[in-house]
Amino acid sequence: MCGIVGYVGENNATPFLLKGLKRLEYRGYDSSGIAVLGEEIGCVKEVGKIEKLEEEVSKNELKGSIGIGHSRWATHGGVTEENAHPHWDCEKNIFVVHNGIVENYKEIKNKLIKRGHKFVSDTDTEVIAHLIEHFFKGDLESAVKKALRIIKGTYGLVVIAKKDPGKMVAARMFSPLVISVNDKGSFVASDPSAIITHSKKMIFLEDGDVAVIQKDNFVISDIKEKIKEREEVTLDWDIEDSQKNGYPHFMIKEIAEQPESITNSMRGRIVLEEGSAKLGGLELVEEELKNTKKISIIACGTSYYAGITGKYLIEEFSGVPVEVSLASEFRYRKKVIEKDETFIFISQSGETADTLAALQEVKKKDVLTLGIVNAVGSSIARETDAGVYNHAGPEIGVASTKAFTSQVVVLSLIALFLGRQRNLSLEEGKEVANTLLSLPSLVSEILKDDSEIKEVAEKYKDFKNFFFIGRRYGYPASLEGSLKLKEISYIHSEGYPAGELKHGPIALIDESFPTVAICLSNSVYEKMVSNVEEIKARNGRVIVLANRDKKDVKELTEDVIYLPTAPEFVSPVLAVVCFQLFSYYVSVSLGRDPDKPRNLAKSVTVE
Ligand code: F6R
Repeated sequence: MCGIVGYVGENNATPFLLKGLKRLEYRGYDSSGIAVLGEEIGCVKEVGKIEKLEEEVSKNELKGSIGIGHSRWATHGGVTEENAHPHWDCEKNIFVVHNGIVENYKEIKNKLIKRGHKFVSDTDTEVIAHLIEHFFKGDLESAVKKALRIIKGTYGLVVIAKKDPGKMVAARMFSPLVISVNDKGSFVASDPSAIITHSKKMIFLEDGDVAVIQKDNFVISDIKEKIKEREEVTLDWDIEDSQKNGYPHFMIKEIAEQPESITNSMRGRIVLEEGSAKLGGLELVEEELKNTKKISIIACGTSYYAGITGKYLIEEFSGVPVEVSLASEFRYRKKVIEKDETFIFISQSGETADTLAALQEVKKKDVLTLGIVNAVGSSIARETDAGVYNHAGPEIGVASTKAFTSQVVVLSLIALFLGRQRNLSLEEGKEVANTLLSLPSLVSEILKDDSEIKEVAEKYKDFKNFFFIGRRYGYPASLEGSLKLKEISYIHSEGYPAGELKHGPIALIDESFPTVAICLSNSVYEKMVSNVEEIKARNGRVIVLANRDKKDVKELTEDVIYLPTAPEFVSPVLAVVCFQLFSYYVSVSLGRDPDKPRNLAKSVTVE
């Protein structure tokens, strides 16, 4: 995710900005830039590592006591110097850095173009600079507030203006910003880690806040000019902790981020009144999607399990048959590709060698290829005909967590869209859309109190083998739960469709081989209960995932993990969040490092 840092004070801003950006590197980025206001505003931007920016800055002698910096993780527009931040207006008076997404940027941009504004990038952020310019009459704060009344979407932004020097104006809406002041000046950042070396005392802005920051003070108000008092918080963090936002590991931080990452994956994509989804990346291929007769999903690992979930979703909502393949198998298989078949490639990194090779094989045929990718501008995103970005933010923990839930959410949106193109009624569509909108709060409910999961993890951590079982939507969830446990705890584990157990694997069951069973209140509940009974009859221990309304599960086993009741199609997300937590707590209590499991790499770019 993008990072912001800003400084106003007595000293030269440049070293503070570069150091701040380096501390934000852990968040992932593809380009960066700084703008510094001295006599003039000087701005340097670079694609790639911060070192490249440092090198370029050293040639340019950027000096001045006010400055803003940004590290970008591309969302709108490719990874280029033009699209890197800061962005400026026509007059090069106003410079902006921004995290978030301006949802109505196209509309604003078209109006500004008609008024003669000239744009040089493909970003939504550049629109903010020009909109502020439109309102600027010498007072930056007032121009920013007028612009914010028009902008729809999310932002954490910091603005400086040559013609109103001595200050930064910062504003927050769903994208964090924090201010800190010491004897050298005032600092602002998207994340305390960028500025914590200057002071541990932080003031966190809240949604709707606009702060005018000067070298030794700041004033916070809202866009209606009402002054806001915000409490100062002293953070007891070292640098490493602050990058993890106070969490002990990136994995648990990313698990906890899921209500936000799921919201980001859905933002601006659900059209409730039409009971449908609007996916900008698929607009140009809507007609082809309407005529598609079959969908093939191709991916690896966790992304493949998201793909199996996608099969159930797409077949349920749209009736289009779906085949799911592992990329490593597909690429060497004799392929029977049908006319009017659509291929979906799912990849968090967008660089997985097998998935990319499978895509290149498919591209030899005349069929539509789509990507569901998290890393903007990555190879799979570039090489597919069209696609949908996850917008889940960078995933640092090696074991995938928020990428999986985001992939399932994007697949749900695609399934809804395909369904509405076919026989899914308006009412059914609205129900699906409303359920998806409730998903972040359902996930929050699990995260709010994970003590039950922690307790069960503690109790079972010393077992050497596990089964994870489920049916229908519970099947891919059990595969993903099992993968999470094995990769970060090194405990042997198998995910199975529950109905398959009796065709062989049940031979392994005894009291030393526990099973985690997904028994949610849905169409397969009774069948799952029968499977649990079969395991118990063979002295097997069972951990059951259940909804609180099913009181009788307590008779099945004493180890129950409860999750909120919700329609079956979102249950994989909820079950997998529980499994992520379970695996995390097992791993930590065994003294493993869940962020860096042995033998694994985050991006598998070799075969
Ligand atoms: C497991 C995990 C891997 C990846 C797989 C594909 O936690 O992260 O199984 O899902 O290597 O990676 P992407 O999605 O980047 O193609």
